[in-house]
Amino acid sequence: MATLEAIDRWRSIRRFRDEHVPEEKLRAVLEAGRRAFSWENVQPWHFLVIEQPEMKEKLAKLAAGQKQVARAPVVIGVCGDLSAWDKPKNREALLGLVGAGVVKATEEALNAILDDPVFGVANNGPTMILARTFEQLGIAYAFMGLEAVHQGLGMCVVGALSNEATGAAREKYVDAKAALGIPDHMYLVALLTLGVPDEEPQARPRKPFDAVVSRGKMGNRF
Ligand SMILES: Cc1cc2nc3c(=O)[nH]c(=O)nc-3n(C[C@H](O)[C@H](O)[C@H](O)COP(=O)(O)O)c2cc1C
Repeated sequence: MATLEAIDRWRSIRRFRDEHVPEEKLRAVLEAGRRAFSWENVQPWHFLVIEQPEMKEKLAKLAAGQKQVARAPVVIGVCGDLSAWDKPKNREALLGLVGAGVVKATEEALNAILDDPVFGVANNGPTMILARTFEQLGIAYAFMGLEAVHQGLGMCVVGALSNEATGAAREKYVDAKAALGIPDHMYLVALLTLGVPDEEPQARPRKPFDAVVSRGKMGNRF
């Protein structure tokens, strides 16, 4: 399937058939997330596959009562790892690139990257660390969504959630995090509901091409 065709077919799916998601299809969607690209290849994510009905019920409550979370055969909890930007871990990611032979950098050059106000995310403070984490996760959602289309599955990103970002329902969130074994340095940022679609929603409109694309100077048509 061509990429634009998969993009064209994409719809957020919130109703699912009461059918098992074949293991190889689930794995393919998770692989798409694992292989997503990220800032300095930091990969600040963990994908937690949740299938237990009681846990899905709990998560639906965290998601402002969104029923699709309890009803989806599979929920993927996408955890953002804020510690991935700590200099020692960020250095590990960079060293991984050096080790793979795709980047050549001396120890001094690595230190310069990590201390740089633009390249070293840890230098930008907690708000930017959060923003950078969410930014990377968005790429993973998109890859996973397109693979779900390719696999004939339906998916929806559920970001309306009680978590560190929204600060709502703190106790419920802390309980769910503990039950799921999510450590403090990771935030449960979104739930991806996944299953065999049981609806064919109409495509949601997008802004026109010329409203979002310019050439050379904003407002000049492409
Ligand atoms: C980061 C993010 C969070 C979202 N959170 C929710 C959500 O909590 N509940 C929901 O029903 N849809 C959620 N959506 C789905 C959007 O509403 C949907 O993608 C948008 O309306 C466009 O529709 P489409 O995906 O069918 O093209 C979310 C989408 C994104 C990208």
